[in-house]
Amino acid sequence: MNVVMKLMAGAALVAMVSTSVLAAEGGNARKGKYLYKKNCKTCHVDGAEGNNVTPMSKTQGQWDRYFEKDQHKDKPEVWGEYSEKDLKDIQQFLFEHAVDSDQPETCG
Ligand code: HEC
Repeated sequence: MNVVMKLMAGAALVAMVSTSVLAAEGGNARKGKYLYKKNCKTCHVDGAEGNNVTPMSKTQGQWDRYFEKDQHKDKPEVWGEYSEKDLKDIQQFLFEHAVDSDQPETCG
């Protein structure tokens, strides 16, 4: 491989890695909405244990960080009940309707 080819391969790799940083990518928001309503809402409405949480509770960046780092540390056992795929779908739903998204949504 000559230098130019190596550089091009490197740039392609960087492009791939940087797109995958968008953690919510690949989730199914429709399924996520269903899962959120069915599971998360039980604790996340006004007056319930977890207080009101909606997609608009956070920005897109905050949602990504929440799913990557925080992972529901207030009640870690909750996260354990979901598959990685389910969490990705829920993350996608929250991300797409975050307060700084094109379609902010209060109802979950
Ligand atoms: C068994 C009850 C329960 C379930 C189910 C539950 N949570 Fe929670 N959640 C809590 C509690 C309790 C807290 C801590 C609330 C507080 O301290 O005000 C919390 C905190 C949070 C927070 C942090 C709120 C903030 O102000 O930053 C987020 C976000 C969250 N939950 C999202 C979710 C999502 C998404 C789901 C579904 C996958 C979910 N929760 C399911 C009980 C629950």
